[in-house]
Amino acid sequence: MDTDIQSELDKIKSEALAALAKPETKPEEFEHRYLGRKGLLRDLTQKVGALPTEKRGEAGRLINELKNTLTQALADQKSKLGATAQPAAKSTIDLTLPGDRKHIGHLHPVYQTMYDISDVFIRMGFDVVYGPEIETPYHNFDALNIPSDHPSRDNFDTFYLADTNYKYLLRSHTSPVQIRAMKERKPPLSLITVGKVFRPDTPAPSRYPMFHQMECLMVDTDISFAHLKGVLDIFCKEFFGPDTKTRFRPSFFPFTEPSAEVDISCVICGGAGGSCGLCRGEGWLEILGAGMVHPKVFEAVGYDPEEYTGFAFGMGIERAALLKYGINDIRLFTENHLRFLNQF
Ligand code: DAH
Repeated sequence: MDTDIQSELDKIKSEALAALAKPETKPEEFEHRYLGRKGLLRDLTQKVGALPTEKRGEAGRLINELKNTLTQALADQKSKLGATAQPAAKSTIDLTLPGDRKHIGHLHPVYQTMYDISDVFIRMGFDVVYGPEIETPYHNFDALNIPSDHPSRDNFDTFYLADTNYKYLLRSHTSPVQIRAMKERKPPLSLITVGKVFRPDTPAPSRYPMFHQMECLMVDTDISFAHLKGVLDIFCKEFFGPDTKTRFRPSFFPFTEPSAEVDISCVICGGAGGSCGLCRGEGWLEILGAGMVHPKVFEAVGYDPEEYTGFAFGMGIERAALLKYGINDIRLFTENHLRFLNQF
């Protein structure tokens, strides 16, 4: 083997591999300098012709070997670059364009309201429990002392499930969860429940066949109406704002005695009334029904009404949200227009 060619090959090899390892070496220039038509290896090939015949084969083989080594090294380097800097430099991506905003959703305002309400009660130490949306007439009505001739039991006021032979219905309020919870637990208990309720109403600004309610129940040996007033006052101040006042008006519910309807001072005029459009000059907004648990309800769940007393109240979630956020149509909650939902 011609030592000249051998040492030149060694020199070219170490120089080429060192060059390739440098980031500033451009692949095209490398190819041109070592492997191209006018490259260093081509020069060497031409020198082979000047060698004695018996040495030409070996010299040619060595040159070819180096050519293959460098070609492979270049390809490796290119694919490495391809995975990093290369595409950014060559691509047509305009990094100055505004990004593709990812749309991150959020809770529906009804659920947000439900969680906000629950939070207030959780902070006061109440448990949150849930009950089924498909109920028996017993839990929805009888155990709550709602007699069989009560109009709310009518077909026009309740969705009965025909395919269960009218044995089940879609609960028309969250009050049956009181019954289930009292049967499962023993006093003292303080709990709330939230969830969907159903009534066959035609959609209108203040009515919808499906809506949500929350229900509160507190039972112990000495619970009085004062506890009810205290808890409701704290809740209304926390949820509607610290200046909110509450007002109790006598009312009737079969499952409470005495019963009351509770108003809050108007969230718009603060109770001033006058020409306020929301409270129609009344200064007050009706917000929920409440009362002391009826002895017959205690009997239905096996609690001794001589031993225990309790209070309960129930409130529409949508109504609370309508009042808090000044929304004028309950149907907006289910129409799902993003212009509406994105405001929350
Ligand atoms: N269940 C009643 C309704 O849907 C609301 C209600 C009133 C719940 C008084 C109560 C209560 O717990 O004590 O209209």
